Amino acid sequence: MAKDIERILFTETDIRAGLSRVAQEVAAYYRDAPCTVVSVLKGGCLFTADIIRQLPVPLRLSFAAVSSYGDGTTGGRLSLDYFPTDQEIREQRILLVDDILDTGRTLAFLRSALLKQGAREVKTCVLLDKPARRTVTYEADFRAFVIEDVFVVGYGLDFAGSYRNLPYIAVLRPEVYAE
Ligand code: XMP
Repeated sequence: MAKDIERILFTETDIRAGLSRVAQEVAAYYRDAPCTVVSVLKGGCLFTADIIRQLPVPLRLSFAAVSSYGDGTTGGRLSLDYFPTDQEIREQRILLVDDILDTGRTLAFLRSALLKQGAREVKTCVLLDKPARRTVTYEADFRAFVIEDVFVVGYGLDFAGSYRNLPYIAVLRPEVYAE
């Protein structure tokens, strides 16, 4: 895998520091108020696993998954593959946790589905924010890093299903995409 990497954007140490910083903000917001963390599969699961262990607040953990169908990477129709139960959402304060906020479509879609299902509040926490790519109006309430418009892999983020297990976040060599 290492041979496919062009450059490392965030090392394991960088990730730990960013994660601690954002975890403090999240913990300060919720204090002792219970919340339900909804982790967005698959990419968000590593970030979720690490951040919840730094949140000394009463929380429950759930998951959501979204697929995009149709015309390729950006414009396809979104559909829910997995969604928390009614009981997990209704009247709850929800914290959506994902690896990256890119166009904003996934999180906007999930946020509106959660509110429709009766969530009292939906906040968003992302590891990475790529504001240059936004196509819908959506801002994260908590974010660890803002990045430029580059495609990144590692720490949950994949290309064609691979590289999620890299412990750092990196930019792939252009030849890898061309293959
Ligand atoms: P948006 O915000 O566009 O994000 O709905 C949807 C999903 O796209 C994936 N994504 C990426 N995955 N490197 C990746 O490995 C990237 O740079 C990247 N940008 C977006 C990610 O799964 C996100 O949840």
